[in-house]
Amino acid sequence: MNEVKMETLVSLCKRRGIIFPGSDLYNGLQGTFDYGPIGVELKNNVKKAWWRSVVYERDDIEGLDAAILMHQRIWHASGHVEGFTDPLVDCKVCKKRFRADHVEEKDFHKFRVLIQKEGDDWEDTGQTLYAESKKSAKAQLASGVFAIPQEKHIRVEPVEGDVFHGKRCPECGGELTEPRQFNLMFKTFIGPVEDEAALVYLRPETAQGIFVNFTNIMDTMRRKIPFGIAQIGKSFRNEITPRNFIFRTREFEQMEIEFFCKPGTDEEWYEYWVNERFNWYLRFGIRKENLRTRTHEKQELAHYARACKDVEYNFPIGWSELEGIANRTDFDLKQHQKFSGKDLTYFDEETRTRYIPYVIEPSGGVDRAMLAFLADAYREETVRERPRVYLALHPFLAPVKAAVFPLLTNRPELVAIAKKLTADLKKEFYTVYDDTAAIGKLYRRQDEIGTPFCMTVDVETLTDQAVTIRERDTMEQERIALDKVASRLHEKFKM
Ligand code: GAP
Repeated sequence: MNEVKMETLVSLCKRRGIIFPGSDLYNGLQGTFDYGPIGVELKNNVKKAWWRSVVYERDDIEGLDAAILMHQRIWHASGHVEGFTDPLVDCKVCKKRFRADHVEEKDFHKFRVLIQKEGDDWEDTGQTLYAESKKSAKAQLASGVFAIPQEKHIRVEPVEGDVFHGKRCPECGGELTEPRQFNLMFKTFIGPVEDEAALVYLRPETAQGIFVNFTNIMDTMRRKIPFGIAQIGKSFRNEITPRNFIFRTREFEQMEIEFFCKPGTDEEWYEYWVNERFNWYLRFGIRKENLRTRTHEKQELAHYARACKDVEYNFPIGWSELEGIANRTDFDLKQHQKFSGKDLTYFDEETRTRYIPYVIEPSGGVDRAMLAFLADAYREETVRERPRVYLALHPFLAPVKAAVFPLLTNRPELVAIAKKLTADLKKEFYTVYDDTAAIGKLYRRQDEIGTPFCMTVDVETLTDQAVTIRERDTMEQERIALDKVASRLHEKFKM
Protein backbone atom coordinates (compact mmCIF):
# COMPACT_ATOMS: atom_id res chain seq x y z
CA MET A 1 0.00 0.00 0.00
CA ASN A 2 1.19 3.51 -0.83
CA GLU A 3 2.19 5.28 2.38
CA VAL A 4 0.06 8.35 1.64
CA LYS A 5 -3.57 8.09 2.72
CA MET A 6 -6.39 8.97 0.33
CA GLU A 7 -7.90 11.36 2.94
CA THR A 8 -4.59 13.25 3.04
CA LEU A 9 -4.66 13.75 -0.73
CA VAL A 10 -8.35 14.69 -0.75
CA SER A 11 -7.78 17.31 1.90
CA LEU A 12 -4.64 18.73 0.24
CA CYS A 13 -6.49 18.90 -3.09
CA LYS A 14 -9.40 20.80 -1.56
CA ARG A 15 -7.20 23.12 0.52
CA ARG A 16 -4.96 24.10 -2.36
CA GLY A 17 -7.49 24.53 -5.18
CA ILE A 18 -6.59 21.30 -6.97
CA ILE A 19 -9.83 19.25 -6.85
CA PHE A 20 -13.24 20.05 -5.35
CA PRO A 21 -16.26 17.73 -5.06
CA GLY A 22 -18.59 18.33 -8.03
CA SER A 23 -21.63 20.58 -7.31
CA ASP A 24 -20.07 21.33 -3.90
CA LEU A 25 -22.41 24.25 -3.22
CA TYR A 26 -25.35 21.82 -3.38
CA ASN A 27 -23.60 19.22 -1.18
CA GLY A 28 -22.08 17.36 -4.11
CA LEU A 29 -23.12 15.12 -6.98
CA GLN A 30 -21.81 11.58 -6.55
CA GLY A 31 -19.11 10.50 -8.96
CA THR A 32 -18.20 14.00 -10.19
CA PHE A 33 -15.31 16.31 -9.36
CA ASP A 34 -14.32 19.82 -10.37
CA TYR A 35 -10.69 20.69 -11.05
CA GLY A 36 -9.72 24.02 -9.50
CA PRO A 37 -7.16 26.58 -10.73
CA ILE A 38 -4.19 24.41 -9.73
CA GLY A 39 -5.83 21.11 -10.70
CA VAL A 40 -6.67 22.25 -14.21
CA GLU A 41 -2.99 23.11 -14.75
CA LEU A 42 -1.86 19.70 -13.51
CA LYS A 43 -4.48 17.99 -15.65
CA ASN A 44 -3.50 19.98 -18.75
CA ASN A 45 0.14 19.13 -18.12
CA VAL A 46 -0.61 15.40 -17.83
CA LYS A 47 -2.45 15.59 -21.16
CA LYS A 48 0.37 17.61 -22.74
CA ALA A 49 2.97 15.11 -21.52
CA TRP A 50 0.98 12.28 -23.12
CA TRP A 51 0.27 14.13 -26.38
CA ARG A 52 3.87 15.17 -26.66
CA SER A 53 5.20 11.62 -26.29
CA VAL A 54 2.62 9.86 -28.48
CA VAL A 55 1.98 12.47 -31.20
CA TYR A 56 4.85 15.01 -31.39
CA GLU A 57 7.80 12.74 -30.59
CA ARG A 58 6.68 10.00 -32.99
CA ASP A 59 5.92 10.02 -36.66
CA ASP A 60 3.40 7.18 -36.81
CA ILE A 61 0.48 8.66 -34.82
CA GLU A 62 -2.12 11.28 -35.77
CA GLY A 63 -4.29 13.23 -33.34
CA LEU A 64 -8.09 13.47 -33.25
CA ASP A 65 -10.86 15.18 -31.30
CA ALA A 66 -14.14 13.44 -32.15
CA ALA A 67 -17.63 14.38 -30.93
CA ILE A 68 -18.92 13.00 -27.65
CA LEU A 69 -22.40 12.51 -29.09
CA MET A 70 -22.28 9.83 -31.77
CA HIS A 71 -24.82 7.92 -33.82
CA GLN A 72 -26.56 5.32 -31.63
CA ARG A 73 -25.78 2.59 -34.20
CA ILE A 74 -22.09 2.97 -33.27
CA TRP A 75 -22.83 1.57 -29.82
CA HIS A 76 -24.80 -1.31 -31.27
CA ALA A 77 -21.88 -2.11 -33.56
CA SER A 78 -19.30 -1.85 -30.78
CA GLY A 79 -21.29 -4.20 -28.54
CA HIS A 80 -21.80 -1.62 -25.79
CA VAL A 81 -25.63 -1.57 -25.96
CA GLU A 82 -25.68 -5.34 -25.45
CA GLY A 83 -22.64 -5.94 -23.33
CA PHE A 84 -21.37 -2.86 -21.51
CA THR A 85 -22.94 -3.86 -18.24
CA ASP A 86 -22.03 -4.45 -14.62
CA PRO A 87 -23.85 -6.84 -12.29
CA LEU A 88 -25.93 -4.86 -9.82
CA VAL A 89 -27.42 -5.96 -6.50
CA ASP A 90 -29.88 -4.11 -4.26
CA CYS A 91 -30.07 -4.34 -0.51
CA LYS A 92 -33.58 -5.50 0.38
CA VAL A 93 -33.39 -3.61 3.68
CA CYS A 94 -31.69 -0.24 3.16
CA LYS A 95 -32.30 -0.20 -0.64
CA LYS A 96 -28.72 0.81 -1.45
CA ARG A 97 -27.17 -0.49 -4.69
CA PHE A 98 -23.80 -2.14 -5.19
CA ARG A 99 -21.75 -3.73 -7.92
CA ALA A 100 -22.05 -7.45 -7.17
CA ASP A 101 -18.36 -8.01 -7.84
CA HIS A 102 -17.43 -5.23 -5.38
CA VAL A 103 -19.25 -6.91 -2.49
CA GLU A 104 -16.95 -9.20 -0.54
CA GLU A 105 -17.95 -12.65 0.71
CA LYS A 106 -17.71 -12.82 4.49
CA ASP A 107 -18.93 -14.74 7.53
CA PHE A 108 -22.10 -13.27 9.02
CA HIS A 109 -23.46 -14.34 12.42
CA LYS A 110 -27.12 -14.40 13.22
CA PHE A 111 -28.21 -12.16 16.12
CA ARG A 112 -31.55 -12.03 17.88
CA VAL A 113 -32.79 -8.66 19.05
CA LEU A 114 -34.08 -8.16 22.57
CA ILE A 115 -35.71 -5.12 24.11
CA GLN A 116 -36.39 -4.10 27.67
CA LYS A 117 -39.11 -1.70 28.62
CA GLU A 118 -38.63 0.32 31.78
CA GLY A 119 -38.57 -2.05 34.77
CA ASP A 120 -39.54 -5.17 32.74
CA ASP A 121 -37.56 -8.29 31.85
CA TRP A 122 -35.73 -8.59 28.54
CA GLU A 123 -38.12 -9.63 25.80
CA ASP A 124 -37.21 -11.36 22.52
CA THR A 125 -38.63 -9.27 19.64
CA GLY A 126 -38.53 -12.32 17.33
CA GLN A 127 -36.50 -10.24 14.91
CA THR A 128 -33.06 -11.30 13.80
CA LEU A 129 -30.30 -9.84 11.71
CA TYR A 130 -26.99 -10.95 10.23
CA ALA A 131 -23.84 -9.05 11.04
CA GLU A 132 -20.10 -9.59 11.12
CA SER A 133 -19.88 -8.77 14.83
CA LYS A 134 -21.96 -7.66 17.78
CA LYS A 135 -20.68 -4.13 17.23
CA SER A 136 -21.83 -4.01 13.62
CA ALA A 137 -25.18 -5.56 14.61
CA LYS A 138 -25.68 -2.71 17.08
CA ALA A 139 -24.59 -0.18 14.47
CA GLN A 140 -27.22 -1.56 12.09
CA LEU A 141 -29.89 -1.12 14.74
CA ALA A 142 -28.70 2.39 15.54
CA SER A 143 -28.93 3.33 11.85
CA GLY A 144 -32.65 2.70 12.16
CA VAL A 145 -32.97 0.60 9.01
CA PHE A 146 -34.89 -2.16 10.77
CA ALA A 147 -38.45 -1.95 11.88
CA ILE A 148 -37.51 -2.38 15.52
CA PRO A 149 -38.85 0.15 18.00
CA GLN A 150 -36.04 2.33 19.29
CA GLU A 151 -36.67 1.44 22.91
CA LYS A 152 -34.48 2.68 25.67
CA HIS A 153 -32.73 -0.69 26.09
CA ILE A 154 -31.90 -2.83 23.06
CA ARG A 155 -29.59 -5.85 23.14
CA VAL A 156 -28.37 -8.28 20.54
CA GLU A 157 -27.43 -11.87 21.26
CA PRO A 158 -25.72 -14.29 18.88
CA VAL A 159 -27.68 -17.35 17.81
CA GLU A 160 -25.12 -20.08 18.44
CA GLY A 161 -23.90 -21.95 15.37
CA ASP A 162 -25.90 -19.91 12.86
CA VAL A 163 -23.24 -18.53 10.53
CA PHE A 164 -23.87 -17.50 6.95
CA HIS A 165 -20.97 -17.22 4.53
CA GLY A 166 -21.61 -15.10 1.48
CA LYS A 167 -22.49 -11.62 0.30
CA ARG A 168 -24.71 -9.28 2.26
CA CYS A 169 -25.16 -5.53 2.23
CA PRO A 170 -21.80 -3.89 3.08
CA GLU A 171 -23.70 -0.98 4.68
CA CYS A 172 -26.34 -2.65 6.84
CA GLY A 173 -25.81 -6.41 6.52
CA GLY A 174 -29.23 -6.80 4.85
CA GLU A 175 -30.07 -9.48 2.30
CA LEU A 176 -29.15 -8.70 -1.30
CA THR A 177 -31.19 -9.32 -4.45
CA GLU A 178 -29.93 -11.62 -7.20
CA PRO A 179 -27.52 -9.75 -9.50
CA ARG A 180 -29.00 -8.19 -12.64
CA GLN A 181 -27.17 -6.57 -15.53
CA PHE A 182 -27.10 -2.79 -15.57
CA ASN A 183 -25.96 -0.89 -18.68
CA LEU A 184 -23.42 1.81 -17.81
CA MET A 185 -24.12 4.18 -20.70
CA PHE A 186 -25.83 7.51 -20.00
CA LYS A 187 -28.70 8.24 -22.36
CA THR A 188 -29.96 11.50 -23.73
CA PHE A 189 -32.00 12.68 -26.73
CA ILE A 190 -30.99 14.66 -29.75
CA GLY A 191 -33.58 17.25 -30.85
CA PRO A 192 -36.94 18.07 -29.25
CA VAL A 193 -38.64 14.66 -29.46
CA GLU A 194 -37.68 12.18 -26.80
CA ASP A 195 -38.28 8.92 -28.66
CA GLU A 196 -36.21 5.84 -29.54
CA ALA A 197 -35.04 7.37 -32.85
CA ALA A 198 -33.66 10.45 -31.06
CA LEU A 199 -31.83 8.40 -28.43
CA VAL A 200 -28.08 8.99 -28.15
CA TYR A 201 -25.53 7.81 -25.62
CA LEU A 202 -22.78 9.81 -24.01
CA ARG A 203 -19.67 7.93 -25.09
CA PRO A 204 -18.36 5.47 -22.49
CA GLU A 205 -14.95 5.35 -24.22
CA THR A 206 -13.25 7.66 -26.72
CA ALA A 207 -12.09 4.67 -28.79
CA GLN A 208 -15.17 4.44 -31.03
CA GLY A 209 -14.65 8.01 -32.25
CA ILE A 210 -11.31 6.79 -33.55
CA PHE A 211 -12.63 3.65 -35.26
CA VAL A 212 -15.30 5.57 -37.14
CA ASN A 213 -12.65 8.02 -38.39
CA PHE A 214 -10.18 5.35 -39.47
CA THR A 215 -10.62 5.84 -43.23
CA ASN A 216 -11.07 9.65 -42.94
CA ILE A 217 -7.68 9.94 -41.28
CA MET A 218 -5.89 7.30 -43.33
CA ASP A 219 -7.00 8.94 -46.59
CA THR A 220 -6.49 12.60 -45.66
CA MET A 221 -3.13 12.05 -43.97
CA ARG A 222 -1.92 9.53 -46.59
CA ARG A 223 -1.11 6.94 -43.93
CA LYS A 224 0.00 3.37 -44.42
CA ILE A 225 -0.29 0.53 -41.92
CA PRO A 226 1.15 0.48 -39.25
CA PHE A 227 -0.04 3.78 -37.82
CA GLY A 228 -2.07 5.00 -34.88
CA ILE A 229 -4.67 7.60 -33.92
CA ALA A 230 -4.55 9.32 -30.53
CA GLN A 231 -7.36 11.08 -28.75
CA ILE A 232 -7.95 12.70 -25.37
CA GLY A 233 -11.46 13.42 -24.22
CA LYS A 234 -14.31 12.99 -21.78
CA SER A 235 -16.06 9.69 -21.30
CA PHE A 236 -19.11 8.96 -19.20
CA ARG A 237 -20.14 5.84 -17.30
CA ASN A 238 -23.04 5.52 -14.93
CA GLU A 239 -20.86 3.62 -12.45
CA ILE A 240 -22.93 1.82 -9.80
CA THR A 241 -20.42 2.57 -7.09
CA PRO A 242 -18.20 5.52 -7.99
CA ARG A 243 -15.57 5.73 -5.28
CA ASN A 244 -12.06 6.38 -4.12
CA PHE A 245 -11.91 10.07 -5.00
CA ILE A 246 -11.05 10.54 -8.71
CA PHE A 247 -10.18 6.85 -9.20
CA ARG A 248 -13.67 5.84 -10.31
CA THR A 249 -16.03 8.63 -11.33
CA ARG A 250 -19.03 8.95 -13.63
CA GLU A 251 -17.46 11.63 -15.81
CA PHE A 252 -13.77 11.28 -16.56
CA GLU A 253 -11.17 11.79 -19.26
CA GLN A 254 -9.38 9.15 -21.27
CA MET A 255 -6.17 9.22 -23.30
CA GLU A 256 -6.49 6.51 -25.93
CA ILE A 257 -4.53 5.28 -28.91
CA GLU A 258 -5.84 2.85 -31.48
CA PHE A 259 -2.77 1.50 -33.25
CA PHE A 260 -3.64 -0.20 -36.56
CA CYS A 261 -1.31 -2.98 -37.67
CA LYS A 262 -1.14 -5.96 -39.98
CA PRO A 263 -2.67 -9.19 -38.61
CA GLY A 264 0.18 -11.39 -37.48
CA THR A 265 2.25 -8.42 -36.24
CA ASP A 266 -0.28 -7.64 -33.49
CA GLU A 267 1.41 -9.61 -30.71
CA GLU A 268 4.69 -7.83 -31.25
CA TRP A 269 2.99 -4.40 -31.26
CA TYR A 270 1.06 -5.38 -28.14
CA GLU A 271 4.27 -6.10 -26.21
CA TYR A 272 5.81 -2.93 -27.63
CA TRP A 273 2.97 -0.75 -26.39
CA VAL A 274 2.88 -2.32 -22.92
CA ASN A 275 6.54 -1.39 -22.61
CA GLU A 276 6.09 2.13 -24.03
CA ARG A 277 3.25 2.98 -21.75
CA PHE A 278 4.95 1.55 -18.65
CA ASN A 279 8.01 3.68 -19.37
CA TRP A 280 5.93 6.82 -19.92
CA TYR A 281 4.85 6.80 -16.26
CA LEU A 282 8.46 6.32 -15.15
CA ARG A 283 9.59 9.15 -17.40
CA PHE A 284 7.19 11.58 -15.72
CA GLY A 285 8.24 10.67 -12.23
CA ILE A 286 6.39 7.60 -10.97
CA ARG A 287 8.74 5.49 -8.82
CA LYS A 288 9.41 2.09 -10.32
CA GLU A 289 8.53 0.21 -7.13
CA ASN A 290 4.98 1.61 -7.38
CA LEU A 291 4.36 0.41 -10.93
CA ARG A 292 3.78 -3.08 -12.32
CA THR A 293 1.95 -4.87 -15.13
CA ARG A 294 -0.73 -7.52 -14.74
CA THR A 295 -2.05 -9.81 -17.45
CA HIS A 296 -5.83 -10.25 -17.59
CA GLU A 297 -7.21 -13.75 -17.06
CA LYS A 298 -9.37 -15.04 -19.94
CA GLN A 299 -12.61 -14.49 -17.99
CA GLU A 300 -11.71 -10.86 -17.22
CA LEU A 301 -11.27 -9.83 -20.85
CA ALA A 302 -13.65 -7.24 -22.31
CA HIS A 303 -15.93 -8.50 -25.09
CA TYR A 304 -13.64 -7.00 -27.78
CA ALA A 305 -10.24 -8.11 -26.47
CA ARG A 306 -8.07 -11.13 -27.25
CA ALA A 307 -5.44 -10.12 -24.67
CA CYS A 308 -5.04 -7.31 -22.18
CA LYS A 309 -2.39 -6.15 -19.76
CA ASP A 310 -2.92 -3.48 -17.15
CA VAL A 311 -0.29 -1.06 -16.00
CA GLU A 312 -1.06 -0.99 -12.29
CA TYR A 313 -0.10 1.63 -9.72
CA ASN A 314 0.25 1.13 -6.01
CA PHE A 315 -2.53 3.59 -5.13
CA PRO A 316 -3.45 4.44 -1.52
CA ILE A 317 -6.25 1.84 -2.04
CA GLY A 318 -3.69 -0.80 -3.11
CA TRP A 319 -2.54 -2.05 -6.53
CA SER A 320 -5.11 -1.02 -9.14
CA GLU A 321 -5.46 -0.38 -12.86
CA LEU A 322 -3.95 2.82 -14.18
CA GLU A 323 -4.10 1.97 -17.87
CA GLY A 324 -5.04 -1.04 -19.98
CA ILE A 325 -3.29 -2.18 -23.15
CA ALA A 326 -5.58 -4.43 -25.18
CA ASN A 327 -5.31 -6.41 -28.38
CA ARG A 328 -8.73 -5.59 -29.90
CA THR A 329 -7.99 -7.63 -33.05
CA ASP A 330 -10.15 -6.62 -36.05
CA PHE A 331 -13.29 -6.77 -33.89
CA ASP A 332 -14.27 -3.08 -34.04
CA LEU A 333 -13.50 -2.33 -37.69
CA LYS A 334 -15.27 -5.55 -38.73
CA GLN A 335 -18.33 -4.60 -36.72
CA HIS A 336 -18.41 -1.06 -38.15
CA GLN A 337 -18.00 -2.43 -41.66
CA LYS A 338 -20.97 -4.71 -41.04
CA PHE A 339 -23.20 -2.08 -39.41
CA SER A 340 -22.32 0.86 -41.72
CA GLY A 341 -22.11 -1.13 -44.93
CA LYS A 342 -18.88 0.76 -45.81
CA ASP A 343 -15.63 -0.87 -46.83
CA LEU A 344 -13.07 -0.61 -44.01
CA THR A 345 -10.44 -2.90 -45.52
CA TYR A 346 -6.89 -1.77 -46.13
CA PHE A 347 -5.12 -2.37 -49.41
CA ASP A 348 -1.57 -3.62 -48.84
CA GLU A 349 0.44 -2.48 -51.87
CA GLU A 350 3.29 -4.87 -51.14
CA THR A 351 1.24 -8.05 -51.16
CA ARG A 352 -1.58 -6.63 -53.35
CA THR A 353 -4.12 -7.94 -50.85
CA ARG A 354 -6.86 -6.42 -48.72
CA TYR A 355 -7.32 -6.99 -45.01
CA ILE A 356 -8.98 -5.46 -41.97
CA PRO A 357 -6.20 -4.19 -39.72
CA TYR A 358 -5.71 -5.45 -36.18
CA VAL A 359 -5.74 -2.90 -33.38
CA ILE A 360 -3.61 -2.49 -30.27
CA GLU A 361 -5.18 -0.09 -27.81
CA PRO A 362 -3.32 1.63 -24.97
CA SER A 363 -6.12 3.24 -22.95
CA GLY A 364 -5.40 5.35 -19.89
CA GLY A 365 -7.40 7.64 -17.65
CA VAL A 366 -6.30 11.26 -17.22
CA ASP A 367 -7.85 11.50 -13.76
CA ARG A 368 -6.35 8.21 -12.64
CA ALA A 369 -2.94 9.25 -13.92
CA MET A 370 -3.32 12.51 -11.96
CA LEU A 371 -4.14 10.58 -8.81
CA ALA A 372 -1.06 8.40 -9.31
CA PHE A 373 1.20 11.42 -9.96
CA LEU A 374 -0.19 13.17 -6.87
CA ALA A 375 0.16 10.10 -4.63
CA ASP A 376 3.69 9.42 -5.85
CA ALA A 377 4.80 13.03 -5.42
CA TYR A 378 3.42 13.52 -1.92
CA ARG A 379 6.20 14.05 0.66
CA GLU A 380 6.16 14.88 4.35
CA GLU A 381 9.31 15.76 6.25
CA THR A 382 10.48 17.65 9.30
CA VAL A 383 12.66 20.68 8.73
CA ARG A 384 14.05 22.46 11.78
CA GLU A 385 11.42 20.71 13.90
CA ARG A 386 8.60 21.93 11.70
CA PRO A 387 6.57 19.70 9.38
CA ARG A 388 6.93 20.36 5.66
CA VAL A 389 4.62 18.95 2.97
CA TYR A 390 5.58 19.17 -0.68
CA LEU A 391 4.73 17.60 -4.01
CA ALA A 392 7.87 16.35 -5.76
CA LEU A 393 6.12 16.52 -9.14
CA HIS A 394 8.09 16.21 -12.37
CA PRO A 395 8.80 19.84 -13.47
CA PHE A 396 6.85 19.27 -16.70
CA LEU A 397 3.75 18.35 -14.67
CA ALA A 398 4.08 21.01 -11.97
CA PRO A 399 0.98 23.27 -12.17
CA VAL A 400 2.94 26.45 -11.41
CA LYS A 401 6.54 26.56 -12.64
CA ALA A 402 7.82 29.48 -10.60
CA ALA A 403 6.70 31.90 -7.90
CA VAL A 404 8.12 35.33 -7.12
CA PHE A 405 7.91 37.06 -3.72
CA PRO A 406 9.11 40.45 -2.51
CA LEU A 407 10.70 40.03 0.94
CA LEU A 408 9.28 43.34 2.15
CA THR A 409 5.93 44.59 0.89
CA ASN A 410 6.40 48.09 2.33
CA ARG A 411 9.25 48.74 -0.15
CA PRO A 412 7.63 49.65 -3.48
CA GLU A 413 10.95 49.28 -5.34
CA LEU A 414 11.13 45.58 -4.33
CA VAL A 415 7.49 44.99 -5.24
CA ALA A 416 8.08 46.60 -8.65
CA ILE A 417 11.10 44.38 -9.40
CA ALA A 418 9.20 41.26 -8.29
CA LYS A 419 6.21 42.15 -10.46
CA LYS A 420 8.44 42.89 -13.46
CA LEU A 421 10.26 39.54 -13.04
CA THR A 422 6.90 37.73 -12.82
CA ALA A 423 5.64 39.43 -15.98
CA ASP A 424 8.84 38.54 -17.87
CA LEU A 425 8.77 34.90 -16.78
CA LYS A 426 5.05 34.56 -17.51
CA LYS A 427 5.83 34.86 -21.21
CA GLU A 428 7.45 31.43 -21.04
CA PHE A 429 6.42 29.69 -17.83
CA TYR A 430 3.31 29.81 -15.70
CA THR A 431 4.61 32.09 -12.93
CA VAL A 432 2.76 33.62 -10.00
CA TYR A 433 3.45 36.64 -7.82
CA ASP A 434 2.48 36.47 -4.15
CA ASP A 435 2.92 38.91 -1.27
CA THR A 436 -0.09 37.99 0.85
CA ALA A 437 1.79 36.35 3.75
CA ALA A 438 5.15 36.05 5.46
CA ILE A 439 7.87 34.45 3.36
CA GLY A 440 7.79 31.09 5.23
CA LYS A 441 4.08 30.73 4.56
CA LEU A 442 4.52 31.67 0.90
CA TYR A 443 7.11 28.89 0.49
CA ARG A 444 4.79 26.37 2.19
CA ARG A 445 1.93 27.23 -0.17
CA GLN A 446 4.10 26.69 -3.23
CA ASP A 447 5.66 23.49 -1.82
CA GLU A 448 2.21 22.01 -1.35
CA ILE A 449 1.30 22.49 -5.00
CA GLY A 450 4.73 21.35 -6.22
CA THR A 451 6.13 24.63 -7.61
CA PRO A 452 9.74 23.75 -8.52
CA PHE A 453 11.26 27.23 -8.02
CA CYS A 454 10.57 30.24 -5.81
CA MET A 455 12.40 33.54 -6.18
CA THR A 456 12.71 36.20 -3.52
CA VAL A 457 13.47 39.83 -4.21
CA ASP A 458 15.21 41.44 -1.20
CA VAL A 459 16.95 44.71 -0.33
CA GLU A 460 20.24 43.42 -1.78
CA THR A 461 18.53 43.04 -5.16
CA LEU A 462 18.62 46.82 -5.44
CA THR A 463 22.39 46.73 -5.51
CA ASP A 464 23.35 43.33 -6.98
CA GLN A 465 20.44 43.02 -9.47
CA ALA A 466 20.07 39.40 -8.36
CA VAL A 467 17.45 37.28 -6.56
CA THR A 468 17.50 34.23 -4.32
CA ILE A 469 16.18 31.16 -6.09
CA ARG A 470 15.03 28.24 -3.94
CA GLU A 471 14.65 24.71 -5.23
CA ARG A 472 11.55 22.83 -4.02
CA ASP A 473 12.93 19.38 -3.16
CA THR A 474 16.35 20.25 -1.70
CA MET A 475 15.35 23.72 -0.42
CA GLU A 476 18.81 24.82 -1.57
CA GLN A 477 19.10 28.53 -2.22
CA GLU A 478 21.29 30.27 -4.72
CA ARG A 479 21.84 33.87 -5.77
CA ILE A 480 21.19 34.43 -9.44
CA ALA A 481 21.29 37.55 -11.63
CA LEU A 482 17.85 38.85 -12.64
CA ASP A 483 18.70 38.63 -16.34
CA LYS A 484 19.80 34.98 -15.96
CA VAL A 485 16.63 33.66 -14.26
CA ALA A 486 14.77 32.78 -17.47
CA SER A 487 17.68 30.89 -19.02
CA ARG A 488 18.30 29.02 -15.74
CA LEU A 489 14.65 27.92 -15.65
CA HIS A 490 14.89 26.84 -19.29
CA GLU A 491 17.83 24.65 -18.39
CA LYS A 492 15.93 23.11 -15.48
CA PHE A 493 12.81 22.44 -17.52
CA LYS A 494 14.62 20.91 -20.48
CA MET A 495 13.30 17.39 -21.16
N1 GAP B 1 -11.35 1.80 -24.68
C1 GAP B 1 -10.99 0.89 -23.66
C2 GAP B 1 -11.46 1.29 -22.35
O1 GAP B 1 -12.21 2.22 -22.20
P1 GAP B 1 -11.27 0.69 -19.80
O2 GAP B 1 -10.32 -0.24 -19.10
O3 GAP B 1 -12.72 0.53 -19.53
O4 GAP B 1 -10.94 0.53 -21.36
C3 GAP B 1 -9.55 2.63 -19.78
O5 GAP B 1 -10.84 2.17 -19.48
C4 GAP B 1 -9.03 3.54 -18.68
O6 GAP B 1 -9.95 4.60 -18.43
C5 GAP B 1 -8.84 2.86 -17.32
O7 GAP B 1 -7.60 2.22 -17.25
C6 GAP B 1 -8.93 4.02 -16.37
O8 GAP B 1 -7.69 4.69 -16.28
C7 GAP B 1 -9.92 4.95 -17.05
N2 GAP B 1 -11.27 4.77 -16.48
C8 GAP B 1 -12.18 3.84 -16.82
N3 GAP B 1 -13.31 3.97 -16.09
C9 GAP B 1 -13.08 5.03 -15.27
C10 GAP B 1 -13.87 5.70 -14.27
N4 GAP B 1 -15.11 5.33 -13.99
N5 GAP B 1 -13.32 6.75 -13.62
C11 GAP B 1 -12.06 7.17 -13.91
N6 GAP B 1 -11.29 6.59 -14.84
C12 GAP B 1 -11.78 5.54 -15.51
